[in-house]
Amino acid sequence: MSILQILEFPHPNLRKVATPVKVFDEELSGLIDDMLETMYDANGIGLAATQVDIHKRLIVLDVSEDRDNPKILVNPSFQIIKEDLAEYDEGCLSVPGFYETVCRPETILLKAQDKIGEVFELKAEGILSTCIQHEIDHLDGKLFVDYLSALKRNRIRNKLEKEQRKHS
Ligand code: NI
Repeated sequence: MSILQILEFPHPNLRKVATPVKVFDEELSGLIDDMLETMYDANGIGLAATQVDIHKRLIVLDVSEDRDNPKILVNPSFQIIKEDLAEYDEGCLSVPGFYETVCRPETILLKAQDKIGEVFELKAEGILSTCIQHEIDHLDGKLFVDYLSALKRNRIRNKLEKEQRKHS
């Protein structure tokens, strides 16, 4: 297993739209293992393949307290089952150090495939629902900062670019 490099906003590859996974093989399960290790190492609750510069529709997440309940979502999609909005202070491994309130539909029905291609459904609410929607956004080239005002987003971009210049 290895820890993968996480792209940071405003890296242009974070805007790529990921393509469906068609082959469920050793390479895919190796990538899943690396993404889980990368997510746990960075203390994140979710990671989309887009964030490690692999543009396939694949997400790993773990919203459990004990960090021992990983979920793997391949080719995920969802339906909104409760339009009510829930507010969370969202963060993102690609936008390190920033947390902002985002509103999203409260309850969703997720449909996805597991690591061997079996289709499953899951009703999600609360933090799990938010996390799934945030990660699926990544697969479509979208970031949580897109829900903020242009002023806030630009402020975050400027601060991160300054940090990135320091470390490059
Ligand atoms: Ni994120």
